[in-house]
Amino acid sequence: VFMKDITGLSGLETQLKDKLNVEQVIVVRGNSDNQDQVKLEMGKAVVNHLQSHVSTKQTIAVTGGTTMAAVAHVMSPFEKADDCLFVPARGGIGERVESQANTIVAEMAKRTNSDYRMLYVPDPLSELSYQTMLKEPSIQEITKLIRSTDVILHGIGDALTMANRRKSNDELIRQLEKEHAVSEAFGYYFNSSGDVVHKVRTIGIQLEDLMSVNQVVAIAGGSSKAKAITSYFNQGKADLFITDEAAAEAIIHG
Ligand code: BG6
Repeated sequence: VFMKDITGLSGLETQLKDKLNVEQVIVVRGNSDNQDQVKLEMGKAVVNHLQSHVSTKQTIAVTGGTTMAAVAHVMSPFEKADDCLFVPARGGIGERVESQANTIVAEMAKRTNSDYRMLYVPDPLSELSYQTMLKEPSIQEITKLIRSTDVILHGIGDALTMANRRKSNDELIRQLEKEHAVSEAFGYYFNSSGDVVHKVRTIGIQLEDLMSVNQVVAIAGGSSKAKAITSYFNQGKADLFITDEAAAEAIIHG
């Protein structure tokens, strides 16, 4: 039975790699929509990957979200790397404190004996505040660190779920509906073809930066995210995508 299970999951991994055009895929058992433990299992897969892909003095940028919060809970010291730095991938303090990137980087740093920096920038920013903030030396310094990060760990969300969670105004919700937004990742909203239909104006990582990041790791599971995951990978690139069985099944058969 055990062997059969393993084959089942690795079959899903191979199919997803082709379907989503991702270098490497890891599928863990279960459905993170209704089993919290599954997010921790995805987290362990992230930690495993980092153990062999992070080197001394590297920067690791991290988004917020409940999935990433679970990743933080299972983080353990890097065996082959010292003096790493965790930074939030983008501004954003709209989420519940435990799911904010700032909180998550602090926990990841503590558990890995690394350092961290925080970014206290609301999301979204008005054009005027954005331009003003960009001139602040301290903001420029951390923006530089973020945009030249070696590793990024990010979540993927369902577009309207994320827009509502961010308490977006009615106008934006209507716009996202009109433009058929399906997925969201680090403040970008995408339609089913992967075109960007909206971008939250804030400081930090930009979609084009992903191209130059050495290790991009995306983590998202649950059957409710199947459409969002497919949509996102029509545009986004990742070296590793970690998901769960329920999302994988729904993406392939759904
Ligand atoms: C956000 C990330 O904080 O979390 C997004 O910026 C992601 O990239 C979202 O879509 C996912 O949240 P969760 O709670 O579903 O893991």
